[in-house]
Amino acid sequence: MPKITVDGKTIEAKDRQMILQACNDAGIALPQYCYHPGLSIPASCRICLVEVEGLPKLVPSCQTPVRDGMVVHSTSSKAIANQKQVMEYLLINHPLDCPVCDQAGECYLQDYSYQYGRSQSRFEEDKVKKPKKDVGLNVLLYNDRCIMCTRCVRFTREISGTSELMVEGRGHKEEIDIFPGRPLDNKLSGNVVDLCPVGALLDKDFLFKQRVWLLKRCPSISPVDSGGENIYLEYNEGIIYRVKPRFNPDVNQWWISDDTRYSYKAVHDANRLKTARRVQYGTQIDTLFGHALDEADAALRAVAKESGAGSLYGVLSPMMACEEAYLLGTYLRSLDPQAVLVLGPVPTTGTNEVFRNSLSGKETFTIQAEKVPNAAGIRRVIAMLGGPTATFEELTKAATPALKKLKGGWIVGGYLSAWLPKDQPAVFKKGPRVVQDILPSTLTSAAEYVLPAAAWAEKDGCWENYAGKIQVFGAAVPPPEGTRREGDVYYKLLGRPGFYNAAEVRNEMGAPFAAALLPDENAAEPAFEFVEL
Ligand code: SF4
Ligand code: FES
Repeated sequence: MPKITVDGKTIEAKDRQMILQACNDAGIALPQYCYHPGLSIPASCRICLVEVEGLPKLVPSCQTPVRDGMVVHSTSSKAIANQKQVMEYLLINHPLDCPVCDQAGECYLQDYSYQYGRSQSRFEEDKVKKPKKDVGLNVLLYNDRCIMCTRCVRFTREISGTSELMVEGRGHKEEIDIFPGRPLDNKLSGNVVDLCPVGALLDKDFLFKQRVWLLKRCPSISPVDSGGENIYLEYNEGIIYRVKPRFNPDVNQWWISDDTRYSYKAVHDANRLKTARRVQYGTQIDTLFGHALDEADAALRAVAKESGAGSLYGVLSPMMACEEAYLLGTYLRSLDPQAVLVLGPVPTTGTNEVFRNSLSGKETFTIQAEKVPNAAGIRRVIAMLGGPTATFEELTKAATPALKKLKGGWIVGGYLSAWLPKDQPAVFKKGPRVVQDILPSTLTSAAEYVLPAAAWAEKDGCWENYAGKIQVFGAAVPPPEGTRREGDVYYKLLGRPGFYNAAEVRNEMGAPFAAALLPDENAAEPAFEFVEL
């Protein structure tokens, strides 16, 4: 492995690695705009130029491979003069609108201006003003903030493969644009907002909602499909404001789908169930959560006692955490050792959506067709618990004599949108039915007991993605008043002391859940830091 010295510090690099990436890996901060490890390297912004001993002029560190024994200077007078000149050039036409810019607080231009720029502008002419444009369903373009790094253009060519964005014009008239009649409407479009190092590309959904320095972030996993995209939920005072990709080289790299990006909205849906209900004299009425839970428990116990083994069922939703499914399965089997455990419906869209580099044809990203995050995990839990099982279709059609005997059960939803078959199956109309869900449905309005549940962003647990990777997600915000996390409900039913503790349950479940990948064990991108010059 080649060793290089950067500003007096010796670091190890990988063979044929670029100087800039080697520095990023080693935690040495060099300024960079156009470079992104997931995209091609145009070396166009020139802020990363460094002096290499033995070479006659400055070289772009993002595009210069390391050589063993190389001595690099990023803080020499030549390198600093270049940084100052690039900053001055970029700021010539840049508006001074940081106070109203969504990117303020996480803007490379703002930070580098402080770090590498001049305190005063020598430019006395009028600034060139460029238009703001609505370039797509989710994205706005404020062209006068753009520094022409072309990350966004390269993304649409090299990752989404849709090529909607282009560079138009020359010199100070140069700007980013879409082709006439072809808006930026691909299913990965929001990634250009993350890639833009300044506030030129903006997410319409997040526009003017929060200052970024007020946001806290919680590592999580995408709930929209079985891909298991790693994300951060960014929240403030109990409200999630945006979802950002979390780098994972084995799963989603730097990218997420737009469905994942806007999935948080279901958490704050105005229709969320917030009051427990139970049936009294044939009519559903509001009740206290604890009363509904005690009565539901008593009703299921009575059915199991009167009708014997094989009278209860449990529908375990593929939106549940594996730990929750394990606890609910354990509870139902404690009442009825022959209780039938069923994986809830698994909606799919037919085929996976594959994105390819428009130039090389190489696969870059896949949106999974399976539109739930944990069908594989729930299947694994059901297999682990053993005993009777059936498919959801078999259950709803009472396809076997054993399924015809069912007298009552526990059904968990938690889906982000409608999930039930149009006509309610007969099995869901008889005996005590306990329904835990986040949104109202025909099932919750006909259930004997309705227990408002927590959405995925309000609880901890793990999900298994389509490839068998078991990943942990955390709670970003508390569940709304009137709801209870499923894990706490099952702890109470099982007579366990204290509150639901996902790690404790995973350990009890053993392999492979006990070894589930914790978020901080995911490979992380090097932190974005600055060095004082
Ligand atoms: S819009 Fe942003 S990402 Fe695109 S070229 Fe301009 S600065 Fe770069
Ligand atoms: S980061 Fe190297 S030239 Fe832009």
